[in-house]
Amino acid sequence: MINEIEKVLVSEDEIKVAVKNLANQLNIDYAGEKPIVVCILKGSIFFTADLVRELNIPVTIDFMSVSSYGSGTISSGELKVKKDLSFDITGRHVILIEDIIDSGNTLYKLKNLLLERNPASIKIAALLNKPDRRVTPINADYCCFTIPDEFVVGYGLDYDERYRTLKDVCVLSRSVYEK
Ligand code: PRP
Repeated sequence: MINEIEKVLVSEDEIKVAVKNLANQLNIDYAGEKPIVVCILKGSIFFTADLVRELNIPVTIDFMSVSSYGSGTISSGELKVKKDLSFDITGRHVILIEDIIDSGNTLYKLKNLLLERNPASIKIAALLNKPDRRVTPINADYCCFTIPDEFVVGYGLDYDERYRTLKDVCVLSRSVYEK
């Protein structure tokens, strides 16, 4: 595995600090509210798990599984809902937790889909933002790290379902996906 990783882009320690800072901000911005925190599977599992445990406001946790990718590295732009929310979000404040915003296709379509359910608000909290790849007009309301256009894995992010459990966000060697 070691040769498959080119370098660490964001370390475990940097992630911990950023998650804590984000939680502090959410604690302020949502004081007195009980938002629904939506973990967008699967990439956001660790980010969501770490973030919600730093919150001191009451939250409802829900999960949604959507995909705009096949097994490759290019977003198809078509959103497929594989698992919908368990809760009704009508009138609720919703925080979408996303590991990465790349082309923006996933969040652009997902946010529009959820807005049709008349929530009180929808905000996006992203661990990573890759603005160079954006093709849709969507941005995170909260973002931990802006990163260059490199293929990253770890802390939930995968390539073909591998590398999700790495503790750092790492750049994957090109040789892995250009084979
Ligand atoms: C990844 C990531 C985002 C999306 C971002 O999910 O978790 O949801 O792609 O890309 P975009 O901005 O170009 O749409 P993926 O579909 O790979 O599923 P996964 O989280 O289960 O790995």
